[in-house]
Amino acid sequence: SATALARAESLIRSIPDHPEPGILFRDITPLLADAEGLRVTTEALVEPFAGSFDVIAGIEARGFILAAAAAIVAGTGLVPIRKAGKLPQPAAAVDYALEYGTATIEMHDDLPAGSRILLIDDVLATGGTLAAGRRIVEQLGYTVAGVSVLFEIAGLGGRDFVGDVHTVFSS
Ligand code: PRP
Ligand code: MG
Repeated sequence: SATALARAESLIRSIPDHPEPGILFRDITPLLADAEGLRVTTEALVEPFAGSFDVIAGIEARGFILAAAAAIVAGTGLVPIRKAGKLPQPAAAVDYALEYGTATIEMHDDLPAGSRILLIDDVLATGGTLAAGRRIVEQLGYTVAGVSVLFEIAGLGGRDFVGDVHTVFSS
């Protein structure tokens, strides 16, 4: 319900100057620790895409938490998109810029050809991470059925950079 979602939103904590001066860090751990908060936000992540995807991909590290919960709710499997060097047999790698720093993500290619993937992460800031997620899925020949994020930091242009993206909460 709208009330439950509003309550869940109030559990996201803002921490100034973390991990660097000038960054307002959105900490979702109080929301994750709350049973109803975790449930309603997980449902809100997948609801718009019901029936339109075959599997969920989550982006390391915080994306894993929500993606795994979402996969259980949706009744699908889970594919990890990992930071470089963690997967044993990466089939693709994509470099990207972060709000703070740079990184590379990698992914396996064990899904059936034509698989439709719902891409999930916790926060949309500059959009670098999710744009890279979209690229790596497409590079492997799979289809991005949708991109879904718990919290959007508006005003950084992330939405325009990523393309079509569903966000549960927005600043
Ligand atoms: C954080 C967050 C998003 C990303 C958003 O991940 O979890 O994945 O930044 O920023 P962007 O839209 O500017 O790319 P980060 O890699 O910092 O850490 P994590 O491994 O804890 O998820
Ligand atoms: Mg992340």
